[in-house]
Amino acid sequence: MSDQSLVLVTGVTGFIGAHVAVSLITNGYRVRGTVRSMEKAEELVRLNPELKDKVDFVLVKDIIAPNAFKDVVKDCDYICHVASPFFFESVTDNKAQLLDPAHKGTISVLEASCNEPKVKRVVITSSTVAICDFNKHPFTGYTYTEKDWNPISYEEALTTKNGFSAYCASKKFAEIAARNFVKEKQPHFDMCTVNPALVVGPPIHPMSNMESLNTSDRLLWSLINGSKSQPSTQNIHVDVRDIAYAHVIAMEKPELSNDRMIVSQGPLVTNDVCKILRQKFPDLKEVISEPTDVPFNDKHFKVDNSYSKSFGLQYHSEKQTFIDTATKLWERAKQFALTH
Ligand SMILES: *[C@@H]1O[C@H](CO)[C@@H](O)[C@H](O)[C@H]1NC(C)=O
Ligand SMILES: *[C@@H]1O[C@H](CO)[C@@H](O)[C@H](O)[C@H]1NC(C)=O
Repeated sequence: MSDQSLVLVTGVTGFIGAHVAVSLITNGYRVRGTVRSMEKAEELVRLNPELKDKVDFVLVKDIIAPNAFKDVVKDCDYICHVASPFFFESVTDNKAQLLDPAHKGTISVLEASCNEPKVKRVVITSSTVAICDFNKHPFTGYTYTEKDWNPISYEEALTTKNGFSAYCASKKFAEIAARNFVKEKQPHFDMCTVNPALVVGPPIHPMSNMESLNTSDRLLWSLINGSKSQPSTQNIHVDVRDIAYAHVIAMEKPELSNDRMIVSQGPLVTNDVCKILRQKFPDLKEVISEPTDVPFNDKHFKVDNSYSKSFGLQYHSEKQTFIDTATKLWERAKQFALTH
């Protein structure tokens, strides 16, 4: 396993990408990471000194430019394509802002890999939004598996005024495009997708301030930043460190050739987050929101994570995830307060 294979990680200064790099290095791989600016690369290393001299950073300013990855994939044994737009507020052009970047970035990585004979597998970070039907009422009692697909059509994706639906569609159609590419071109490598639930976890990547949290951590942050807001929400979540290790599994397991793997820890219930954190940090009750009396609804849809477990993925406990995430969020906020 620790054969010092070289892995390209796209979007290495992002929330997930940074953890993927850490996980790969921990598991004995060499990492090359694409960044949009070298300042961000330096900031990532400053925040995570253990990455010093361990990641070879290369500049890819625009992942959808033609041949963006042509030279970057040279000598790589594996590719983890993590970079993809993640936002759904202020979407004005579904195609230009979400659908095209997700699709073109993925195809560009696959095309470049065709010219690098060393590449064995391309792992693509997809999402459970490519699997679950988020237009449906969440309390269906349904359990999704790797066999399911979000039914949204491309036409609907182009025209919907719902930014979240457009985001879901961008992941679905990028994943389908990747599968079709491999089926049609029959390249010398195969692919696999990792399909995570909402991602929470300690943010170790460069951010300009706490408001720039583009992730589900923003929801957690709103529960612990003193605003005392009480969004009573149920969803599905996974720890970013578990997704990171899922990428290693997706690279290494021959059985996962051209397959997809759900990674989800279980339900994310904001009331539980508040309860766990208020118990763990009794001195911070003034900062942490109070749980509401909205009861847990066990009819919320679920996703089946047994496939990932069959490959040895061990999930963090939700308690550990929430405590580690809150601790890191407070630490980052304190640093911003000191330096800005
Ligand atoms: C974060 O969200 C903003 C808009 O809200 C967007 O411009 C930016 O590209 C997003 N970042 C990522 C990594 O998707
Ligand atoms: C807490 O976080 C939420 C979500 O990011 C934000 O809207 C709100 O302004 C923040 N409040 C404080 C006091 O920082």
